[in-house]
Amino acid sequence: MQQLSHPYLIGTKHLTKEDLELIFDTARQMEDIANNRKDGHHLLRGKIMASLFYEPSTRTRLSFEYSMKKLGGDVVTVSDGPCSSLSKGESIDDNAKITAMYSDIIVIRHPQIGSAKETAYATNKPVINAGDGGNQHPSQALLDVYTILKENKRLDNLHIAIVGDLKYGRTTHSIVFLMGLFENIRFTFISPTELHMPEKVTDFLENKGIPYTETDNYIEGIKGADVLYVTRLQKERFTDASEYEKLKDDFILNLDILKHAKPDITIMHPLPRVNEVDHEVDKLPNAAFFRQAANGVPVRMALLYLLLRNNETSLI
Ligand code: NCD
Repeated sequence: MQQLSHPYLIGTKHLTKEDLELIFDTARQMEDIANNRKDGHHLLRGKIMASLFYEPSTRTRLSFEYSMKKLGGDVVTVSDGPCSSLSKGESIDDNAKITAMYSDIIVIRHPQIGSAKETAYATNKPVINAGDGGNQHPSQALLDVYTILKENKRLDNLHIAIVGDLKYGRTTHSIVFLMGLFENIRFTFISPTELHMPEKVTDFLENKGIPYTETDNYIEGIKGADVLYVTRLQKERFTDASEYEKLKDDFILNLDILKHAKPDITIMHPLPRVNEVDHEVDKLPNAAFFRQAANGVPVRMALLYLLLRNNETSLI
């Protein structure tokens, strides 16, 4: 039986092409369960997922919990940061050891960079990083790439423009690392200079010889792109509130800007949206962001299944 290369999902750099194929093949089979055409309750019956969200979440949390329950598993949770012993001063490491006693898999979102890795190292249970501060959000990147494959019908030969808060936007870091697995990819990063892509990402691209350009000109940046990945400014991570106020209206996508893009450019956004995509864009057939959010279910079902399944449970 094929296995993932690692028994956890902390970031996207450690994923291989084989991992991606396995996750996407499994996700395709999960679509029937996600869409109620097939029952999947036998697949993870008796398994418990700990859902630890120390930062706000709607899509990630609900889609993980929904996925777990649709596969017959159950969820234990702390409803909010202040309800957990972390707020009493417990270390991430101790918290992880304890959580692992009461669950079979841990999904954690925490503001501290490295928190998911620390959790994974502290336990022998699988851990999924649902966002560690401004660092990474690998399950989002997996559903993003799954969406690109569904919308564009390929993962090689793509020009991807990413716009917005590239400094703090953890989803942008994870998707770049993941798309680095494919052939003939190039990126355009569109942002104000204050919110440039961090060096850990640009160094990765330079080491792999993947071309990228950086610009603060939205119209120039989207010309010729096959995919446009829009992100919101991560207000909660700004150290200076006036800087957020200064930048928040600078990069707003509307139909006028899209006149300069390929007519079929795939428009994506991890959501939530604040003001960076005008609602008039939603009606375009190539506005994929709600389909993208829906893809979170089969992809997260696949991840939970691959990390948790008993060797004897078969999908088919
Ligand atoms: C993203 C996140 O939490 O990083 N949201 C999500 O999980 N879909 C993006 C964001 O909050 O801007």
